Amino acid sequence: MTMAIAGLMLVTGRAADIDHGQGLFNEHCSACHTIIASVRDKSGPNLNGLFGRRAGTENYSAGYSDEMAASGVTWEVATLQAFLNSPALMIRGTKMVFRGLPDFEARLDLACYLERTTGEGDAPPNDLCVEETRD
Ligand code: HEC
Repeated sequence: MTMAIAGLMLVTGRAADIDHGQGLFNEHCSACHTIIASVRDKSGPNLNGLFGRRAGTENYSAGYSDEMAASGVTWEVATLQAFLNSPALMIRGTKMVFRGLPDFEARLDLACYLERTTGEGDAPPNDLCVEETRD
């Protein structure tokens, strides 16, 4: 008698989908944020150089909320994921009006897109952001 082990698959974790992250940024964030250093602030702060930066410390024309400036958060993949799940839940009193992205993978894709595109941040690259290679 043979034992069937078909269907046994090791799930090693899904790599981030940077293109999907870009689509999410364009859909949900770009109305209020630019990631290009030379472009002036939209209604939200410029996100260039975001990674490794303390929240609320950029030279932001409209001015941060006190809550953001006092949050002590450093932006990296994990903190971004938590923030984007529900900004007001993580930083009560933030003036970023965004309901949040409930899907973990979507937030990962978006955070990894930002890690890739916001330039020379101070934080080391996150392993979760390694892009999937397809042939
Ligand atoms: C309606 C406009 C608006 C939208 C949409 C929006 N933001 Fe914001 N964002 C803001 C504002 C305003 C602040 C400043 C909040 C504060 O000071 O409390 C902010 C702050 C931030 C910060 C902190 C930046 C810093 O310098 O510390 C990050 C990171 C951020 N937003 C990312 C995003 C991402 C990613 C999205 C898309 C999922 C997004 N935001 C959508 C307006 C917006």
